Amino acid sequence: MTKTARAFTNIALIKYWGKKDQELKLPYTNSLSLTLDRFYTDTSSEIIDSNKDVISLNDTLLNEEESKRIVKYLDSTREKYDFSEHFKINSVNHVPTSAGFASSASGFAALAASIDQTMALNLDKSQLSILARRGSGSASRSIYGGFVEWIAGDNNDNSFAVPIDENPDIDLEVLSAVINKKAKKISSTVGMEKSVETSPFYPNWVKLVASETNEIKQAIEQKDIQKIGEIAEHNAMSMHALTLSAKPSFTYFEPETVEIIHLIQELRQKGILAYVTIDAGPNVKILGTHKSIEQVKSYLNNLSDVTTVVANIGHGIQYF
Ligand code: DP6
Repeated sequence: MTKTARAFTNIALIKYWGKKDQELKLPYTNSLSLTLDRFYTDTSSEIIDSNKDVISLNDTLLNEEESKRIVKYLDSTREKYDFSEHFKINSVNHVPTSAGFASSASGFAALAASIDQTMALNLDKSQLSILARRGSGSASRSIYGGFVEWIAGDNNDNSFAVPIDENPDIDLEVLSAVINKKAKKISSTVGMEKSVETSPFYPNWVKLVASETNEIKQAIEQKDIQKIGEIAEHNAMSMHALTLSAKPSFTYFEPETVEIIHLIQELRQKGILAYVTIDAGPNVKILGTHKSIEQVKSYLNNLSDVTTVVANIGHGIQYF
């Protein structure tokens, strides 16, 4: 029997950036995200009569090197649940044409949900979030839709996401400005490790996240888009300040990233409600209302090398 699960990606408004335990993927801080409806992964799994897992991505078989991270994940899951069978896995990323980015958040959330079914573990949502977290920290949040908080915890069993509001009635959209350029990549795993170890500002980041998490939760409750945007933008910039202040310093920003940050600042001065957030890459996500995002989109469409995709609020895990 093949079991297929769908998980949507999420964008952190309060970022997860740094682990106190690498192996368990326990973060130093809570983080808070919004699940999006435009970028998702469908993952199917079945048990096969073999002593090796067979992994495909977008219907293309992965070689040993490419499968390594997933096989390691499956090995640790087998060990934890005392399960000896191997799997055939196919993971298909659905990203709008030329958006060009897949996400480890939707990827590991869909994989966790699919193998939970195939292994007949019957995990509840908190346990599923823990299982997804072991693959990639941000995947812990994609179990739920809407606004989600990942509680840092201090051991494997108490570090999982909880829903804040899965179906918020709020006029909030997210525009992804995708920069069509192959940048040299420092993975988020490596980037956050370097930030923790070498940025003199890391202890301040931990304090900042605690206060901004409380503030943004109030703003979400009040449906105050301006406040949500201000906090999210400040939090993202503070995360990127950790990379700039690392030794040696590094940045995920490309020239186009900075160009878009400036453009959004100018548009705000014209009265357009828009704020940026940026993850471990050059692409920019812009938060605003339906109306302001339409306006931002028309300005961004004048830039070459930038593709835009508008997303609304997405669902939690689905099965079919
Ligand atoms: C900047 O979840 O990709 O997107 O746990 O090492 O796999 P690992 O990291 P990952 O990091 C995501 C970092 C981020 C912020 C966030 O999503 O909270």
